[in-house]
Amino acid sequence: MGQHDHNELATKIQKAKEQLGSQVYILGHHYQPKEILTHVDAVGDSLDLAQRAQAEKNAPYIVFCGVRFMAETADILTSDDQVVLLPNSNAGCPLADMATGDALNDAWKRLTAALGHDITPIAYVNSSAEVKAFCGEHGGLTCTSSSAPTVFQHAFESSEHILFLPDQNLGYNVARQIGIPPEAIQRQDTIGEHVSSAAPRVIVWNGHCYVHTVFTTEHIKQTREEHPEVKIIVHPECPPEVVERADDVGSTAHIRTQVLAAPTGSVWAIGTEINLVDALRRQCPDQTILSLNGTGSACEDMHRITPSDLHSTLAGLTQGQVMNQVQVPPDIRPTARKALERMLLLS
Ligand code: 13P
Ligand code: SF4
Repeated sequence: MGQHDHNELATKIQKAKEQLGSQVYILGHHYQPKEILTHVDAVGDSLDLAQRAQAEKNAPYIVFCGVRFMAETADILTSDDQVVLLPNSNAGCPLADMATGDALNDAWKRLTAALGHDITPIAYVNSSAEVKAFCGEHGGLTCTSSSAPTVFQHAFESSEHILFLPDQNLGYNVARQIGIPPEAIQRQDTIGEHVSSAAPRVIVWNGHCYVHTVFTTEHIKQTREEHPEVKIIVHPECPPEVVERADDVGSTAHIRTQVLAAPTGSVWAIGTEINLVDALRRQCPDQTILSLNGTGSACEDMHRITPSDLHSTLAGLTQGQVMNQVQVPPDIRPTARKALERMLLLS
């Protein structure tokens, strides 16, 4: 598509949005490209967007430029008569798909048989509504990358063990961050094998995010050789050996805060999704901002939402047509909501 077509499409999106006025509220995650973010009413990380969806009481339509689990979260947190739309129904999250409700039920039976019932299940928001509902029903809650340390600490006030799913790296890195020793962290699929002598405090699922596991210790070594003054900051979905060798680790919100506040001339290598790295590069032209692996790592699912999809969704609404509505089944919505609300109360 040429620049002229891009501009024409952007104008059409703007017109449809103006026509809809206060009928529509558009949210966008930081991993969306600038061609989308230029049209949103609010941009944020997953925690921020969940809070904004919960606070939006007026717009009947919420268009979510992100991935399915984020749109589901918005649907769970908004009122029954508000409609959430995902401009491309194929924008999923392979990490979220790595934990199914059935597998969780099976694992829970094995875990409670081995460790007793003093376990709090914690679902990363990057999970299905079914997994969130399981946690809500079993005294657990959700967390995002920015609320995870607080949520873990809160869970340990009343429980001996945490089951965290689906991201093994985030679970391990956050457990280490709050002082849990490596030998007290075990992967769920190895429970029953004699991996550690003591009962684990944190049991992590075996999922991972392909966008963040591309970053390696070799990238860190090479970056430090080429840029001795560099500060390396990575997302907690990166592998533990990368997190251990980085200068700083934190959520999307933490990465943004650190880079935006840094002095002119700072050099950064960032281990997270490329659209966020590119956005920081645009916002901080007086700093050198690199992707930790040199070329950048893209979330294909986030990239599925195109300006053309956004236009079709908005144009449909101007004609009274609802396309790609995201609707969490009513039987799991209340318990999934309970898990999310417990997190939001701590945030
Ligand atoms: P945040 O919780 O930092 O927004 O991250 C969302 C995500 O999908 C990370 O891969
Ligand atoms: Fe899922 Fe990873 Fe994409 Fe985040 S970056 S939406 S965890 S695949």
